[in-house]
Amino acid sequence: MGPIQIKQILSEASVGSEVVVKGWVRTKRESKNAIFIAINDGSTIHNIQAVAEPGQIAEDTLKLITTGSCLKVTGELVASQGSGQAVEVKLTDVHVYGTADPDEYPLQPKKHSLEFLREIAHLRPRTNTFSAILRLRHALAFAVHKYYNDNGFFYLHTPIITASDAEGAGEMFRVTTLDLDKLPRTEEGKIDFKEDFFGRETNLTVSGQLEGELGAMALSKIYTFGPTFRAENSNTTRHLAEFWMIEPEMAFFELEDNMNLAEDFVKYVIRYALENCADDLNFLQKRLEEEEKQKPQNERSMPLLEKLRFVVDNNFERVTYTEAIDILLKSKPHKEKKFQYNVEWGIDLQSEHERFLVEKHFKKPVILINYPRAIKAFYMKQNEPNPAEPGPTVRAMDVLFPGIGEIIGGSQREEDHDKLVARMHEVGIEPEAIWWYLETRKFGTAPHAGFGLGFERLILFVTGMGNIRDVIPFPRAPKSAEF
Ligand code: 4AD
Ligand code: MG
Repeated sequence: MGPIQIKQILSEASVGSEVVVKGWVRTKRESKNAIFIAINDGSTIHNIQAVAEPGQIAEDTLKLITTGSCLKVTGELVASQGSGQAVEVKLTDVHVYGTADPDEYPLQPKKHSLEFLREIAHLRPRTNTFSAILRLRHALAFAVHKYYNDNGFFYLHTPIITASDAEGAGEMFRVTTLDLDKLPRTEEGKIDFKEDFFGRETNLTVSGQLEGELGAMALSKIYTFGPTFRAENSNTTRHLAEFWMIEPEMAFFELEDNMNLAEDFVKYVIRYALENCADDLNFLQKRLEEEEKQKPQNERSMPLLEKLRFVVDNNFERVTYTEAIDILLKSKPHKEKKFQYNVEWGIDLQSEHERFLVEKHFKKPVILINYPRAIKAFYMKQNEPNPAEPGPTVRAMDVLFPGIGEIIGGSQREEDHDKLVARMHEVGIEPEAIWWYLETRKFGTAPHAGFGLGFERLILFVTGMGNIRDVIPFPRAPKSAEF
């Protein structure tokens, strides 16, 4: 199974045993009495320190041991003389696998800005911050699969290339093998997609939901967990052009069940991180405290671990869209015209409104339901008319998180064939284009519901990071697809 990793050495190896450490040098420090080399292999936030006597390492080898170089160190595990670590390696032999010229290697042991690190995304996993984020990303992905597996869901692989626009929002990346310099044309002068690879227009998926619904209509409870792509030109700290989404879809679930599942699921994965990633979370908590030192006390965020425990231990607030609008209309920022966007029934809530509800009014995660039909996707179940509401609503549900805004979007689905088709006509979607989707409403239709959790938004919340480009290894955003 390969060499023993630093994480294991630090937790399992006994003092006096011989160990072999393979990893990258974080720092080298020479004093009169000893040479200290801090090595990290990414298995844990903690380095292991190798100690050599002056003159023990040949001068020309020692020169090659610099920050970023890769080593194999053999030695005896001993109790550490210094503070800061319980054990260290008394070096008997060292081999340099690869050097890192200090004049060129950009990750010198000092503080680098997140902006700079984004420009060297190929190397940033070697920093404490990014290795902690990547380990958390892994742990959360594992927890997602564990949660659904343990609750009777099946992992369904929905296609990446599709011919439909699941969200009906038209923000898709085209997939084609046509020669862009010599596009085939129809007699009317339109691009002839019959000549294209699939014989039709195709794009990268914006959501696995429609195919997920097909799965739920056979396996009852499924989930997808895959990359999704949106060509929305949103240069924000919350949007990526390529992001990962988890989409459970359940037969025989109504909106209430959907909310219960969403809340239980999110709490489970956060609890999993708290229980399994304490070292990395502690590191990130300190990082955040450090970053916010300049801010006045009342603007600083809650300590990271406290914030995560708060979410796990408290019920999410459940509110209808209509109630939320009432709260906003009565709010101070609305009355004092502090909101940039106007508030009235029917608007798509802006992030300033969501943040007010979550961070100022309720001070906890909020599930908003029963949105106006006009601002939501065609597939959502239509509510019976309600005299207390100014217009028709659908059984939509968005989960809003402090500091993040929308983390989950979902709904109960319209299972009535004719209502669904009528709605598609209203919004201009050709029923023939997704005839296969409509057949689930023709053959054994059933009440069902589901939602999508943006994986990177979850990681933003759990790590306390501020920019979504810093919680995915290689971010894709407008004008940015290096690496
Ligand atoms: O609200 P959305 O668009 O919902 C759907 O796609 C549904 N088909 C899901 C379902 O019911 N199965 O997206 C779901 C979530 C959002 O709440 C947000 O967390 C995330 O996906 N998301 C993005 N994350 C990063 N970058 C973007 N551009 C995102 N767009 C949506
Ligand atoms: Mg949404």
